[in-house]
Amino acid sequence: MKSDFVGMSGPKEEANKEKEMCGMQSLNSQGRLDSNREHDRATLILTLTLYNVRKIELSKAAAVFEMFETQIYHFETRGAKKPKNSVDDLDIFVECEVHSADVGILITSLKRVAKDVKTSREDKVPWFPRKIQDLDKCHHLITKYDPNLDHGHPGYSDLEYNKRRAFFADLAFNYREGDPLPHIEYTAQETATWREVYRKLRSLYPTHACAQYLDAFQQLEKHCGYREDNIPQLQDVSRFLKERTGFQLRPAAGQLSARDFLASLAFRIFQCTQYTRHFSSPMHSPEPDCCHELLGHVPMLADRDFAQFSQDIGLASLGSSEEEIEKLATLYWFTVEFGLCKQNGLIKAYGAGLLSSYGELMYALSNKPEYKPFDPEVTAVHPYQDQAFQPVYFIAENLEDAKVKLQNYMIKIKKPFALHYDPFTSSIEVLNTPRKVKRALHQIKEELENFCLALENLS
Ligand SMILES: [Fe+2]
Repeated sequence: MKSDFVGMSGPKEEANKEKEMCGMQSLNSQGRLDSNREHDRATLILTLTLYNVRKIELSKAAAVFEMFETQIYHFETRGAKKPKNSVDDLDIFVECEVHSADVGILITSLKRVAKDVKTSREDKVPWFPRKIQDLDKCHHLITKYDPNLDHGHPGYSDLEYNKRRAFFADLAFNYREGDPLPHIEYTAQETATWREVYRKLRSLYPTHACAQYLDAFQQLEKHCGYREDNIPQLQDVSRFLKERTGFQLRPAAGQLSARDFLASLAFRIFQCTQYTRHFSSPMHSPEPDCCHELLGHVPMLADRDFAQFSQDIGLASLGSSEEEIEKLATLYWFTVEFGLCKQNGLIKAYGAGLLSSYGELMYALSNKPEYKPFDPEVTAVHPYQDQAFQPVYFIAENLEDAKVKLQNYMIKIKKPFALHYDPFTSSIEVLNTPRKVKRALHQIKEELENFCLALENLS
């Protein structure tokens, strides 16, 4: 039996695709992130070979540079070291500047028109968003479960459903940071699907969900229109979360790449689908939908420890290697999606994949599966299952303990730079100069003094 929806794909399969989709930023010789001439621009040194430049090859390559508004600082040619069959074969050296987010796609495009396209990859780190507006570029989708492409998707042959999905996809792709979240007039059929899921799951929550979930769910029913006959609007839910933990929602067109999805968590942004699953299969969806997001994820994002836990995974993902992204995505999988925790001598669910799946929620707490204590070192490399119930569930002592264990794990992730999230500007600062580190420390010192004074007053 398939598990209910999944919030993120298994990262292995997407890794190569992501490598193409994500740009790269350069590190200078001290291992610092080089912000170059502007924050969002990256300097590239490229070598490539063009055969038969007297034909149209040179103009094709030029068109690629033009398309990505590349600023060229140095362009040098010489006869090709390994000519194919013409004196017109050229090796080309280019020093240029391009928008950081476009680096990957620029290289991919050049590879289509030139041979031996090379960059010095060993000293590069993947591009990552520095400010909240950069999340407008973090919407690369995984097409594995797309109802247009996946024969096994319940909505595969339903033209009306696919048309509706295209409508939701447009809303998400056209959304820009700061816009109001799209208000949706859900159809009677969509609301009926929601009703069935809501009614069934709600009956399980009192015995299966953790206390933090139950508390938030009650508040959501009171303040955000959580009802059987109403699909809550993201704008209302986002406002609710912002007041409690600072988390906000933004619309997503479907299942995102692990790198993009995790990056948004670093800014306390949760990328959230708005469409409903196909009506023919209310108890199962192969991809995330609003039932999964609103019933699975949202209540937990209202908890402070859980919110910090989620942001910490996001921060750890920024600029990380593909290998680390894979581990972090697996950690996310076994915690945020399928995590269990101890509470008053019982085991309860806090993972969204469980809290939005009637079948797997029952199974996970049935004593039939294997259980292991949550240990990030073990969890991050454990095989996972996205086509059936999980073979194993990881149990946290409690959410705070899981957060501390994750933070200890993240300290060991090797990166040549340290990052700091500035909540005032919703931006990520790369701590690559003593001045920046001192400023951040000074801010913490001021806060500590304030807390000490508060304690003194109380005593
Ligand atoms: Fe999810």
